[in-house]
Amino acid sequence: MTTLIQQTSVNGVTTLTINRPDKLNALSPELFVELKTILLRLQEPGFPVRGVILTGAGEKAFVAGADIAAMQQMSPEEGERFAAQGQEITALLEALPIPVIACVNGYALGGGCELAMACDFIYCTERAQFGQPEVSLGLTPCFGGCVRLSRFVGAGRARELIYTGRRIDAGEALRIGLVNRVFSSIDAMLAAARDILLECKSQSPVAISLCKHAINASYGRTTAEALEVEKIAFRRTFESADKQEGVKAFVEKRPAVFPGE
Ligand code: COA
Repeated sequence: MTTLIQQTSVNGVTTLTINRPDKLNALSPELFVELKTILLRLQEPGFPVRGVILTGAGEKAFVAGADIAAMQQMSPEEGERFAAQGQEITALLEALPIPVIACVNGYALGGGCELAMACDFIYCTERAQFGQPEVSLGLTPCFGGCVRLSRFVGAGRARELIYTGRRIDAGEALRIGLVNRVFSSIDAMLAAARDILLECKSQSPVAISLCKHAINASYGRTTAEALEVEKIAFRRTFESADKQEGVKAFVEKRPAVFPGE
């Protein structure tokens, strides 16, 4: 059986590689099914993973978009189902209670850009290109592009990119805040992502998952509602062994060893 997603785990960091390089890792319905199975497994309580890197196979593309050939024959109902499938994947990525970094090694267009934006933040190489070119195909972004791009770059820039369908390079992506860092090689990018995830690994997993929840849950809410979510997250830390250990370790002037519960 062909594996459309490669999965490797080292030191509690799992790397998921979209593996369809001959089609520039385009997102097909079959690929979504495989990715969903893996993401559901990563969400299981106690699964021994503390961070995820999402990247694409080959030197050319992270993901060059939703599979255009597959969309050619779809009915409106099938199109809607495909959108729902992609949205389910981006929701699963956002809901993972651990940090997820997108490592963009080339084209991140359409669904590729949307997949990257469902991760916590994005690293890329100098050769990366980003864009939401759907309007050039008579389509609209459907895996969250109209929603998440504004969060990264602001509504004005998101509209400009979506309405023109134009591509931007790594330098511009960095300048407008779509990516956090740009690297000269794929290896340097993956090494930096692993380092950051290992740095996160020494912190409280419970606190990180609650921060992720509070950040994501704040979108689309009023300031008062978002602050309420933050307050409840803070309260929940008081129910955790991690908080007991973190505060106790500070008082005892020693490094904390978080149990992760
Ligand atoms: N869906 C399906 N197949 C895709 C694809 C996509 N989104 N993007 C690339 N491919 C396929 C090509 O059809 C080609 O397949 P083939 O060799 O069987 O003909 C293969 O991947 C290589 O792509 P190619 O176009 O030959 O590479 P390129 O270097 O000339 O161009 C891109 C690269 C990314 C500029 C170009 O492939 C492109 O514009 N892709 C579509 C991007 C897009 O609009 N995405 C949003 C979709 S909603």
